[in-house]
Amino acid sequence: MAGERILVVDDLELNRLLLRDLLEAEGYRVREAVDGNEAILAVAHDPPDLILLDAVMPDRDGFSVTAALKSDPATRLVPIVMVTALTTLEDKLHAVALGVDDFLTKPINAAELRTRVRSLLALKHFTDELEHASQVLESLAIAVEHRDGYTGGHCKRVGRYARRVGEELGLDPATLDVLRLGGVFHDIGKITVPDEILRKEGALDVHERGIMARHVDAGAAICSPMKTLRKVIPLIRHHHERLDGSGYPEGLSGGAIPLAVRIVSVVDIFDALSTRRPYREPLTPEDALATLRTEAAQGWWDAELVEVFARILARDGIDRNDG
Ligand SMILES: [Fe+2]
Repeated sequence: MAGERILVVDDLELNRLLLRDLLEAEGYRVREAVDGNEAILAVAHDPPDLILLDAVMPDRDGFSVTAALKSDPATRLVPIVMVTALTTLEDKLHAVALGVDDFLTKPINAAELRTRVRSLLALKHFTDELEHASQVLESLAIAVEHRDGYTGGHCKRVGRYARRVGEELGLDPATLDVLRLGGVFHDIGKITVPDEILRKEGALDVHERGIMARHVDAGAAICSPMKTLRKVIPLIRHHHERLDGSGYPEGLSGGAIPLAVRIVSVVDIFDALSTRRPYREPLTPEDALATLRTEAAQGWWDAELVEVFARILARDGIDRNDG
């Protein structure tokens, strides 16, 4: 696809010119950066579709640039091709571990350059589409939250709180992502619950409770076509389970409820209690925690997780961000 933007990073002008000529001949739009720091600034300012990155540069080398870009959620999906005369397996493995997507060996072979660039850009196009699809779903989750009477930010706060509990427990980065997404999407299935039930003041009757309870399966069904959300589905489906088996939809108990699910349940309840709703004032954080502790003692929630979360709140304070 012509017109895609490629950033060429090399400290030697001759190398930049050579790559520019070859890429512009293919219809790509080329920008240049003369060192690692300029590259990082250029990407932050306007992320390209692909980066051709020299490995060896003075000051900040290609490895350091890769580490910075791949650890930033805003830029980690931009493919990086490392252009290098380095050939040791050790160097290559180091670069791959940092997140480099592909390599080109100097001297550059024009046909190889064209092929690699084309295939990585096709992949980038695909990940952009996926990003777009998950953003649409996220907007849907937020729309549902407004119908549910939240003034804003509940789902994202649940995601941030869940992630922070995961960090406190030392969970791996992939699980932290799952926790955040679980928070964002946990109630998306409420889109299938009619307004008169969703917004009813006072207790629901048996029939209404049954309809409300379906939101967990509906949410799982909405998100299941997205392969990237595969590990998030159990959090959506089981966030109303209780440790004593009195929850739904499966009545799972104890260790049968995965840790990530137990985390989302605790922070969801806390945020629901401490947020203003159409039919009641918010509880103070202390009162919300007291309620959680009481419910944990009666066997609903994981008491250890409640205390982990209480520690985080005591240290960092309540999350007041409503976006
Ligand atoms: Fe829910």
